[in-house]
Amino acid sequence: MTRARVGILISGRGSNMASLVEASHLPDSPYDVALVVSNVPDAPGLAFAAANGIPTFAVSHKGMKRAEFDALVDGALRDAGVDYVALAGYMRLLSPGFVAGWAGRMVNIHPSLLPLYKGLDTHQRALDAGDARHGCSVHLVTEELDDGPILAQAEVPILDGDDADALATRVLLEEHKLYPAALAALIRSGPPAR
Ligand code: GAR
Repeated sequence: MTRARVGILISGRGSNMASLVEASHLPDSPYDVALVVSNVPDAPGLAFAAANGIPTFAVSHKGMKRAEFDALVDGALRDAGVDYVALAGYMRLLSPGFVAGWAGRMVNIHPSLLPLYKGLDTHQRALDAGDARHGCSVHLVTEELDDGPILAQAEVPILDGDDADALATRVLLEEHKLYPAALAALIRSGPPAR
């Protein structure tokens, strides 16, 4: 089977991007990572991508209109022959045109059991709510922030004495397993009807 080409968008550390890249090296992976894009030119994750021989495209969004910047990113993804887009800690709202152009082929990972706790500070919010469980979700991207059909979730129990950092660390370990598996399952299920 020909492997799908995945473009990954990051804004920072890029640990989820790294887990997607590492999974793509497995013999039965249905995808290769064709491009890593960042809106933050000194995002730490870019070094990992480059060290793994993956082309990178890094341009600051500062001073640009959202749709104008997204068109630049879209062009880079299309030029790289990308079939699927994975958001991995990409901390930008997306323009409607960009989202429509990748409908059914763009996924995101979010550190909560969606629909709970969209947005930021998810771990502290789960603690403040007194929840017994927390986790992460992979979903198809729609125009609403951290919304769209959920593809997969992983749960993490909240333990006595947990603080936001401890909880974030345990959730992140689950993110690194969940994201490659959910992306591979989506790709194996085939492209959406156009
Ligand atoms: C991850 O925890 C990811 O789920 C979260 O940002 C972190 C990025 O870490 N994403 C969101 O909050 C999206 N709304 P990483 O750069 O090490 O992958």
